[in-house]
Amino acid sequence: MVRLSGFDPPGGETDELLAEVGELVAELVTTAADRDVLGHDRGDELIGRLLDQRPGEAPAELTETLAQLRAVLATGVDNAAPGELAYIPGSGLLTSALGDLLAGVANRYTGMSGFTPAAVALEQGVLRWLTELFDLPERSQGLLLSGGSNANLTAIVTAREKHADGRADLATIYVGEHAHASVRKAARIAGVPGPQIRVCGSSDGARLDPECVRVAIKQDLAEGLRPAAIVGAAGTTNAGAIDPLDRLADLAAELDVWFHVDAAYGGFFQLTQRGRERLAGIERADSITLDPHKSLYLPFGTGALLVRERDDLAHAFAESGDYLRDHSEDLDTLPDFSAITPELTREWRGLRLWLPLQLHGVAAFERSLDATLDLAADAWRDLRADPAVEVIGEPDLSIVVFRVVGDDAAQDAAVRAINADGRVRLSTTVIDGRVAVRLAVLSHRTTRSTVEIALRLIHEAAAVAAG
Ligand SMILES: Cc1ncc(COP(=O)(O)O)c(C=O)c1O
Repeated sequence: MVRLSGFDPPGGETDELLAEVGELVAELVTTAADRDVLGHDRGDELIGRLLDQRPGEAPAELTETLAQLRAVLATGVDNAAPGELAYIPGSGLLTSALGDLLAGVANRYTGMSGFTPAAVALEQGVLRWLTELFDLPERSQGLLLSGGSNANLTAIVTAREKHADGRADLATIYVGEHAHASVRKAARIAGVPGPQIRVCGSSDGARLDPECVRVAIKQDLAEGLRPAAIVGAAGTTNAGAIDPLDRLADLAAELDVWFHVDAAYGGFFQLTQRGRERLAGIERADSITLDPHKSLYLPFGTGALLVRERDDLAHAFAESGDYLRDHSEDLDTLPDFSAITPELTREWRGLRLWLPLQLHGVAAFERSLDATLDLAADAWRDLRADPAVEVIGEPDLSIVVFRVVGDDAAQDAAVRAINADGRVRLSTTVIDGRVAVRLAVLSHRTTRSTVEIALRLIHEAAAVAAG
């Protein structure tokens, strides 16, 4: 029976607290590979109880409190399980979660470099590793943010400040029809009027057509508008398709427009030889969105933005306040994150990226992502051989898109039947106006046997659809 006697619990209590929480953590990690993604109760009764729950005046007992967490974790979709092949899977790493724990307990302030310069240096070191991975110049700067949506927003605001002098009313943004919704949302939050968010079509049904962008920009320039950014995707959410990055970079350079690449899903395939070849041109971007909580397996809550010229960030975000006058900074060698992002106070976010990279080594991520590319390519070949399945395009990265024979309702029925098994989860999207099924391999826990289960279920569902 443990009830905490203070905010900083005395030694014995802290030991018991860590031991019990540690037991639950170990259970979650060691059972992860064998857990089903679906098939759990939604937890309606529990939801009702939790909604009515209020914290008590007195400390609650530890084991009973953790029992409530266990109950929550037994419900709903377990998207950390190996069979998660829907949307963009996010698996989560213990080492990163431990980095968070340490960062939270130490609670050092890293929004300005002068407080604990070494803590900022630790984060800056890992950010430099990122900018070097994408061959960005020395004056580039990386940022860790809460996710890809915030990274896209930070990029769009930076581009608007640079290319439209903050005149959001005149700014225009160019995105592909398959661009992630967060890009259009970012442009709206940045004040770009809806009709000035130009959505360009694809030349091949999947990849942004640079000619469409060129025509739109020329027309907007002629009308006195201020083209601010072209946004290319390095792996669309729908199909993992990579836009023609080199051609978009040429266009951006020719017309003096910011070139942003949304690599939230596909960015870390840059760690592999095949990924690097397929993402060629990304190194010419003015900014790149990455999502370590997708293709680097980190727990949700970590996005990243890389910006070619760090002064552009300062131009967009620097502000001052009288209450900050005591603060000294060391900007020649270390970034002041509060001056180059929308945030002032932030967690020591770098640790959640630094610790896993230190403890696993980069090669482990490279190998895992390489295996992911193989799994997707093999799944695509397997599905292509089934006459009851129509594959849509060949995967650029690790998302396989297909239809079973039949109409939209047949696709939905197939996914319902596949997901009812509980071991794997697929999702649907709309391609060229018709529903299609997606199989997205990205979790570090997804193995060949997981994909084989999914393929067996798909073939069965396709046979049913074919009658
Ligand atoms: C290509 C792309 N961009 C941006 C996002 C948004 O990222 P987040 O969910 O981390 O905000 C996603 C999410 O799936 C994505 O796939």
